[in-house]
Amino acid sequence: MEQQIEVLRTEALAVIGAVTDRTSLDAARVRFLGKSGAITALSEGMRHVAKEDRPRFGKLLNDLRQAVTEALESREMALLEEADAAAVSSLDLTLPGTFPAAGSLHPLTQLMDRAVQCFRRMGFSIADGPDIETEWHCFDALNTPPDHPARNEQDTFYLPDGRLLRSHTSTVQIRVMENCPPPVRIIAPGAAYRRDEVDATHLAQFTQMEGLCVGENISLADLKGTLEFFFRELFGPETDLQFRPHFFPFTEPSYEIDIRTEALGNRWMELAGCGMVDPAVFEAICERRGDRAYDPEVVTGFAFGFGLDRLAMNLTKIPDIRMLVENDLRFLRQF
Ligand code: PHE
Repeated sequence: MEQQIEVLRTEALAVIGAVTDRTSLDAARVRFLGKSGAITALSEGMRHVAKEDRPRFGKLLNDLRQAVTEALESREMALLEEADAAAVSSLDLTLPGTFPAAGSLHPLTQLMDRAVQCFRRMGFSIADGPDIETEWHCFDALNTPPDHPARNEQDTFYLPDGRLLRSHTSTVQIRVMENCPPPVRIIAPGAAYRRDEVDATHLAQFTQMEGLCVGENISLADLKGTLEFFFRELFGPETDLQFRPHFFPFTEPSYEIDIRTEALGNRWMELAGCGMVDPAVFEAICERRGDRAYDPEVVTGFAFGFGLDRLAMNLTKIPDIRMLVENDLRFLRQF
């Protein structure tokens, strides 16, 4: 029996050591340790062994079982390591990796987000209105008479039913006051449309940001302070602002704002229109609402509006406004 055990040990270790893949490893396991395997068969032979010899042979058999189990385990580990090494040897670490495609925000969106954040800190909320508007919201309510050039068919896109694509976001001033009593403090970023010949500095669709603040005792000083704070937040504390008297039908007095700042090349740049809401606008709102919530004897307000496209262009040194809408990935990936 002792010899049989030794023969089996030698055989098993040789077979296991020669195994080169998983399938033959499993076959070896079954052959030696399986239910009808060689070691099991030997254990059954114990019945014929003399009683006093049984403990000794039992121990030898156990040692054999243990040795074979360990040999199987270490051969399995070795096979796994060999497989890993083979996989790694065909791996060229100097090859460029695959980069996950991470998107980024459009330069216009980035600028809009910054502007919105800044106005939110001053307590402005965001308002919205439709791109397709009535003539009343776009012009009449904004004190813009029928013979005003902005209403000309050459300047504005009219739909067959008489509505139009809003030529500025000032329509949202009207939408807000129609629906909410004062005080209001809103900004309205959005698209505006004009019949402009498309070239390097003009598009038929552009992006504006409107602002409106109405309440009791709102003054020109509030307008000036708000916009100075805003533009200095956006462009740095050294930014100079210039309020140049101007005319808009819906504000009185009205100004154009020029700014001069390092980020925009230190030259004056015309940037925004603004002014104190014209009492005629408040009267149009009162008439529409059927109440005196916006009685111009009680409330005052300021409004402003500026284009984001040209600003984004100047900040990021984009030479042609059309690049903002062409969706060329080579352009967009730079931001
Ligand atoms: N709506 C004007 C424009 O598009 C800008 C503006 C807004 C002026 C609000 C005064 C007040 O040019």
